[in-house]
Amino acid sequence: MQREIPIDQQKLLKKTEIEVRRHQEEYDHLKHKDDYLEEYWEARRSLKHARRRHLYMTGFEEMYPDRYYEKRNRRVRKWERELGQIIGETFAVKSAVDFGCALGSYLEGIRDAGAEKVLGFEKAESAIKFAPDAIRPFLKQADLGESIDCGKWDCAMSIEVAEHIPEEYADIFVENLIFAAERLIIFTASQRSSHRHINPQLPEYWIGKFVTRGCSYSNELTQKLRKAWKDGGCNRFYLIFNLMVFLAQDEKLIRKEPVLINNNTDICL
Ligand SMILES: C[S@@+](CC[C@H](N)C(=O)[O-])C[C@H]1O[C@@H](n2cnc3c(N)ncnc32)[C@H](O)[C@@H]1O
Repeated sequence: MQREIPIDQQKLLKKTEIEVRRHQEEYDHLKHKDDYLEEYWEARRSLKHARRRHLYMTGFEEMYPDRYYEKRNRRVRKWERELGQIIGETFAVKSAVDFGCALGSYLEGIRDAGAEKVLGFEKAESAIKFAPDAIRPFLKQADLGESIDCGKWDCAMSIEVAEHIPEEYADIFVENLIFAAERLIIFTASQRSSHRHINPQLPEYWIGKFVTRGCSYSNELTQKLRKAWKDGGCNRFYLIFNLMVFLAQDEKLIRKEPVLINNNTDICL
């Protein structure tokens, strides 16, 4: 049975339709006028951005098709697993939940390092399809723009996912991590604009969201993991650069309405 689209998603869909129409009109109006050069490029950029947001709402599978994950499986899974193992070893992670886990490669590595329990959430069906058999049972399909209650985990993480989620859902997404984390939050987010990056932001934007909700940014642990990744041979400098490690909130916040309850007592290795 097809799931009903939540009201806020219906509203965001409508909003992105209006944005595309408005930016298209602006662009059409400017494209014949040479003397508005700067405005022309601005209108072009805004139209592209509006179209990406709209595509995210209407054609998620088109944005994240099989070939995207097939390629990740061939090209990135091995080194992501190694980076996951370094996370596990550096912080002696006992259990981990990964928000936007794709093939679950980081979780594979964390498990290699001895974690007792792992869980991954991912929206794209194709990702779960291409995940290795050994990790697939621990991956669940979920939309990170909705509140997820998955219990408490020693480490909650999200690697290069935040920029893929519409700004309207950024708070819920951050809260999903915060509510899942018992001790640590490992987080990276790109600030670069690209085809799938619909909310690229500076680190301060994300740090602000975590800190105002009671977490603290740990420069010491961030540097520690950066060094461990570098010493472990990581040549993905954007990841090292984008990394932020937070300590879980000390005072517990009350959440309004978690919509997805994942009581994961069965998710053990
Ligand atoms: C660049 S990939 C990173 C995947 C993984 N963290 C890694 O580093 O290999 C971004 C992932 O975010 C997922 N994603 C985007 N929006 C999502 C949403 N609303 N809910 C769950 N996953 C989402 C995409 O499907 C994609 O697999």
